[in-house]
Amino acid sequence: MQGVNTHGAPARGSTAAAASGPGAPHGGRLVDRWLRGEARDEALERALRLPRVRLDAREAADLEMIGDGALSPLTGFMGSADYRCVVAEMRLASGLLWALPVTLAVSRAQAESLAEGGEVALEGPDGRVLALMRVAERFACDREEEARRCYGTTDPAHPGVRRLLDQGEVYLGGEVWLVDRPPPQFPAYHLTPAETRAIFAERGWRTVVGFQTRNPVHRAHEYIQKCALEICDGLLLHPLVGETKADDVPAAVRMKAYETILARYFPADRVLLAVFPAAMRYAGPREAVWHAICRKNYGCTHFIVGRDHAGVGSYYGTYDAQRIFDAIDPAELGITVLCFEHTFYCRACGGMASPKTCPHGSAERVTLSGTRVREMLYRGEAPPPEFTRPEVARVLMEGLQGRSG
Ligand code: ADX
Repeated sequence: MQGVNTHGAPARGSTAAAASGPGAPHGGRLVDRWLRGEARDEALERALRLPRVRLDAREAADLEMIGDGALSPLTGFMGSADYRCVVAEMRLASGLLWALPVTLAVSRAQAESLAEGGEVALEGPDGRVLALMRVAERFACDREEEARRCYGTTDPAHPGVRRLLDQGEVYLGGEVWLVDRPPPQFPAYHLTPAETRAIFAERGWRTVVGFQTRNPVHRAHEYIQKCALEICDGLLLHPLVGETKADDVPAAVRMKAYETILARYFPADRVLLAVFPAAMRYAGPREAVWHAICRKNYGCTHFIVGRDHAGVGSYYGTYDAQRIFDAIDPAELGITVLCFEHTFYCRACGGMASPKTCPHGSAERVTLSGTRVREMLYRGEAPPPEFTRPEVARVLMEGLQGRSG
């Protein structure tokens, strides 16, 4: 296998198995790690006598996604071979394309108290037992290398790097068996990959475009979603509702805004709203690939990557998260990436546009940074209607009132 440069993509043509057609899960099979019936009862009984490992919100979300197959082909938290290979080469040890580590961190002291080969009970942030895990391995993580390769920076001010520096320095690798999930924040929208796949089939959608977001749907989002919907049968609006940085708009407020815009501006039979339980990493290009692979597992055939996807601050170039796909074999990725330039409302065009379709200058274009929009909303000031639909702005202002931005 060939290596890659920092933060780059894997070389084409390495040993990974080819994806088996549009809509197939990554690695070919949708993973299901749930224990049911007697096996579950026995596991819960056994858990009472096992050492406990407490997961944080990011790890608990990853665990649930492993259980449901959203991270297929992973069947547990990564061992050292997968971890090192993913960090260095964007591949699992098997050779299959994979973008970011999925790891369980503990302190050195806790790691020393656990035996390799032994079983542990994994508990969520609220103390409920979520899974059993066979600890195949304990190994030291290389934070510096992980930060540099996966986030493209070792700057502790980067929220993903910060998190890495704050967590335990030893990783536990091993397969997991789930018995419970954290209480879903949005039960009606909490759909597993098997469920979204069943809905797509029921609706007769042969092509489905997935849309990752951690923000309210502004006009630019709506525009690129609808452009994609012109060529796909259905849209999976798939907001990330796991942990985000403190100044992002809270998921509960965003969900109301999604419901509002869908009810008024989208045909109901073309869109499915469901939540993506993952935490944000803010890893830009690498996370764009990870997001695409996850949405492939949910049954999407297409995935939208716009400007500065999963970016934060000025760590990544506007189109870095698109360029990373240039070095990935589309057949191996197995989901078609739809790239969009920075879109905006242009007063001279009288509609949404991008540098690709609009000949006018910046004076005509309505563009606002995410930070500026959030400041306005927290102050109770509606962004211009060309930027955010007034109905959506109202929901956001109501939801954010009294919170600090
Ligand atoms: S992200 O962290 O989830 O990527 P956000 O919710 O803002 O943040 O973006 C969701 C998707 O829309 C991403 O693919 C992003 O690149 C794209 N996007 C956001 N704003 C624009 C815009 N003005 N023009 C084009 N694409 C955009």
